[in-house]
Amino acid sequence: MIQLNRRLQQIADMVPPGARVADIGTDHGQLMAYLAGCGKIAGGYACDLNEKPLNKARRLLADYGLDGCVACVQANGLEGVLPGMVDVVVIAGMGGDLTARIVDAAPWLREQRIRLLLQPMTKSDHLREYLYQNGFCVEMENAVVSGKFVYTVFSVVYDGIPRTLGLLERYIGRVLDGDSPDTDRYLMRIRSNLCRRVAGIDRSQSGEPQRREEYQTVIGLLEEKLKERGYDDNCWEDLSGPGPDGPV
Ligand SMILES: C[S@@+](CC[C@H](N)C(=O)[O-])C[C@H]1O[C@@H](n2cnc3c(N)ncnc32)[C@H](O)[C@@H]1O
Repeated sequence: MIQLNRRLQQIADMVPPGARVADIGTDHGQLMAYLAGCGKIAGGYACDLNEKPLNKARRLLADYGLDGCVACVQANGLEGVLPGMVDVVVIAGMGGDLTARIVDAAPWLREQRIRLLLQPMTKSDHLREYLYQNGFCVEMENAVVSGKFVYTVFSVVYDGIPRTLGLLERYIGRVLDGDSPDTDRYLMRIRSNLCRRVAGIDRSQSGEPQRREEYQTVIGLLEEKLKERGYDDNCWEDLSGPGPDGPV
């Protein structure tokens, strides 16, 4: 059976057994090949905007004899998936802003109890803001360290209730409520990203006092959480690990 990296494995673990799944932006198709190969899902769709990545998925699924179980669809976002075809939609490995646009362009996600598993590479704060304001309930977030980076995977269902996002929620969402052992690394990564943003504002003298204050407040809150979790001031930077942008 195909071996997934920790990021994709975390997503796979959050797929309910027996679901029909659409993987939007499937690229290599590994997630669907794994899910279908181990019999966890009833079937599904590997979707991508671009032909080249979709051909990779086609080849992989054919190599594992899974092309009868997972259909490959070339489409923008969810345009190739009709309401009623799936129970779970995965959008992984894209920016938080593009992920929000893809969700927003498929209003049927709001009419049915479709579970969304979202794993943004960047701009998680933007994605949270979109979801909270637009009646999507983020039921769970799980942090996951994979290679050099730490990510978060959202499990989301629409319930129509718009929510206000608290300051700490905007930056770490429900990661603290998740059961992931990688939570601490996520908090450290967000803290160091925000420290970099503050340093950037100071260097450019761009006069963004409100933003700077917001970042400083969140840094303080994150440090409190880290202290509660047994860390002291000196080990945060080292443990947060490398990475250009991290998941903010
Ligand atoms: C970085 S890959 C992520 C692959 C995989 N989902 C993962 O997490 O490892 C992003 C993929 O999304 C596809 N993509 C980008 N925009 C898209 C859109 N609007 N609709 C569908 N696929 C899209 C790209 O062609 C690319 O194959």
